[in-house]
Amino acid sequence: MKKIHINSSFFINNRDKLSKLLLKNSVAVINSNDIMPSNADGTMRFLQNSDLFYLTGIEQEETVLLLNPDNSDPESREILFIRDYNPDLEVWEGKKLSPEMASKISGIKNVVELSRFEFVLHDMLCYSNNIYLNTNDHSRAFNSVQSRDMRFISYCKKNYPLHNYQRISPLLYSLRVYKSPEEIELIQKACDITGDGFKRLLKFVKPGVMEYEVQAELAHEFIKQGTLFADYEPIIASGENACFLHYIKNNDKCNEGDILLMDFASAWSNYNADMTRSIPVNGKFTKRQKKVYNAVLRAFNGTVKEIKPGKTVRDICMIARELISKELVVLKLLKTKDVKDIIIKSPEFKKYYPHDVSHFLGLGVHDVGIFNEPLKAGAVLTCEPGIYIRDEKLGIRLENDILLTKNGNKDLMSNIPIEADEIEELMNSR
Ligand code: GLY
Ligand code: MN
Ligand code: MN
Repeated sequence: MKKIHINSSFFINNRDKLSKLLLKNSVAVINSNDIMPSNADGTMRFLQNSDLFYLTGIEQEETVLLLNPDNSDPESREILFIRDYNPDLEVWEGKKLSPEMASKISGIKNVVELSRFEFVLHDMLCYSNNIYLNTNDHSRAFNSVQSRDMRFISYCKKNYPLHNYQRISPLLYSLRVYKSPEEIELIQKACDITGDGFKRLLKFVKPGVMEYEVQAELAHEFIKQGTLFADYEPIIASGENACFLHYIKNNDKCNEGDILLMDFASAWSNYNADMTRSIPVNGKFTKRQKKVYNAVLRAFNGTVKEIKPGKTVRDICMIARELISKELVVLKLLKTKDVKDIIIKSPEFKKYYPHDVSHFLGLGVHDVGIFNEPLKAGAVLTCEPGIYIRDEKLGIRLENDILLTKNGNKDLMSNIPIEADEIEELMNSR
């Protein structure tokens, strides 16, 4: 269903940048993800490890990248291992990558069958001091299931106990967080397709439609354009459901008078967009809904202005909290005038705004990056303020994807309707 539109020069360049960050005389190994089991002989849809994809473009399971940049033999400086040819498997699953195909995608000349991996590795490790291994060091990842990388770390430590072990993730993350022009184009394309899905919905949503029917419209638009949803389950949440932040059941009716909160996006070549819009099911906001909507929109606009180099994600989150606090006071949901006090102390504030405003975006929807480090041009962040009033069965969140530039930022979703009047107009022109 999905095609990858990235030239091998991108992956060659990424490997080159990473190799330059390694200590002298090092080996680095990056593994693919596993195919995860479901039940009986079933499996979940395969999703490649983002680090391996970033370095090779290979989407196939049982793939390993081995880097040894100081090797005297140029052929051995980078080797890609792919699963051995298996004619029986081919009958069931179709053609897997041949060495030639894998080489064309990745730009790696030396592609070898995986059964030879341990011999080749052993030979290299006899002459190398440092081994760089990969771990998932995202601050919110629990890593409760052992990955191929983790199994490989155990294997290495058992068989090569006296080498100097290094983490590759800080190096990779320092590269992945700042996007190249090609990556920005891919994210922009994901944003544009997401916008196509949204515009289609504005003509489809009406009282009585089911949340899953809305999701089906999006699936049609994305698959028709040769891609899939971004790497998170879409949230299609009508009425009170909008107040449950990760509502993904999507099986309720969209009722007359509800606001429908939709957090969905498409991906493009594995790069994700991430968008939220909140629309009136019947095409017309009530006075109260519009008031809350415009409060969120002002917080959105006020926060976007502050997303610029030098700021940290934490700074941006504090700015948003302050703006939302002020709006909650105006909406008479919070009483105090001391906004700073609300941000720090009030559990009431968390009730109306229980999340934060921003995260990094890229190959991961919640991409790699450090929240308390000053940002530079090239980072892509989301901006996603919201107000949730469960007593009124009303939740509103707005979310766009923002690229940091040298002079400020660029909203990659600036052409996707967000003003209340424009949304009403589009919904009523069908
Ligand atoms: N869609 C997930 C998020 O907005 O963070
Ligand atoms: Mn988001
Ligand atoms: Mn989102």
